[in-house]
Amino acid sequence: MSSLDLGFLGGGQLARMSIMAAQRMGFTCLSLDPTPNSPAAQVAEGVVGALADPLAIAEVFRRCDRVTLENEFIPGSAIREAILRAGADESRLMPGVACLETIQDKLRQREAYARSGVPSPHALALRDADQALDRIGLPMVLKARFGGYDGKGTRTVRTREELAALQGEWGEGGWLAETFVPFRRELAVMVFRSPLRTGAFSTMETVQTDHVCDLVFPAGVDASAVAIAAAEAVGGFGLFGVELFEAQDGSFLVNEIAPRPHNTGHYSLDGGGVSQFEQHVRLAMGLPLAEPTGRPVCMANLLGRAGAGDFRHGLAAALTVPGVHLHWYGKENRAGRKMGHLNAVGEGCVERAVEARHRFYKAWAP
Ligand SMILES: Nc1ncnc2c1ncn2[C@@H]1O[C@H](COP(=O)(O)OP(=O)(O)OP(=O)(O)O)[C@@H](O)[C@H]1O
Ligand SMILES: [Mg+2]
Repeated sequence: MSSLDLGFLGGGQLARMSIMAAQRMGFTCLSLDPTPNSPAAQVAEGVVGALADPLAIAEVFRRCDRVTLENEFIPGSAIREAILRAGADESRLMPGVACLETIQDKLRQREAYARSGVPSPHALALRDADQALDRIGLPMVLKARFGGYDGKGTRTVRTREELAALQGEWGEGGWLAETFVPFRRELAVMVFRSPLRTGAFSTMETVQTDHVCDLVFPAGVDASAVAIAAAEAVGGFGLFGVELFEAQDGSFLVNEIAPRPHNTGHYSLDGGGVSQFEQHVRLAMGLPLAEPTGRPVCMANLLGRAGAGDFRHGLAAALTVPGVHLHWYGKENRAGRKMGHLNAVGEGCVERAVEARHRFYKAWAP
């Protein structure tokens, strides 16, 4: 038996909020992160080390019964080597390495959806401009196959000339081209999948500003069947954040999946039912899963701003709006960085979340 219950590869806010849910149930936790005093290391023991370092990952496997993660960028090869070094069994990791490897390559992810008949944009490896124009057509979206997040590594191309102008980037290799979806809205669904049970949280609408999720609120439609099919297509067990497009005809297409808690699931902290973080811990520890329930919630991200002061001023201002709860991650302020979020609960939640955020910024970074 290892001395700790649950280890996290990554020590950001997703690990922090998962650890807080685990601690509430009595579990002991540890996180690995390159930065000392990471959000997770402020609430439980943190190991400082590179996330791609097999030796550092092996330490987490040696010290913890179960291991999970908070981002999908750690190379599968590093995790495999770590598991060997620690003499561990891969079944102690959630999600499994094969599932992680399918997800971390955006092209392999698209191919998995195509094989399983899950609706998703048509994609191919971008090697030749004429072939992409012929088979994908315009407009098209170019994406770095590995490592993209917050829209970094995503380019929309509307003309042949734009595609040629970007060749300096994609010509290096490692990019895909896919069909542009003229979507009506973007949606997100948290899916949970264990060997015994699969299910989903509510379907949420997500509003993106400058490629960063801005607001999340109930969508009033149910995309759970497509979201669950996407999680099944990439295999493996765990918690999955599924991003979708709602097409003009009301049908759903899968954009991408993350095998971990997700920014679009933060609303679940205050809806009154199980949170995505508790469900994540239940999955990782092999516990019975909860059926999500709860009231409508709107989540607004709080992003870093230049010249901001003490967040406590913002907190006090935001909480003057009734039915609002605020979560702060303990990160160093940097412009555009996800510093925290707030949830407004119940009737009129979208308007109250927007108002509370406005008051927060006015008091924090006037
Ligand atoms: N095929 C597409 N058609 C139209 N818009 C798209 C398409 N793919 C992506 N987008 C837009 O670009 C955004 C970012 O794309 P994607 O989610 O694939 O990249 P990412 O960098 O992993 O993003 P994030 O970390 O923000 O989730 C999407 O939320 C959507 O607004
Ligand atoms: Mg995305």
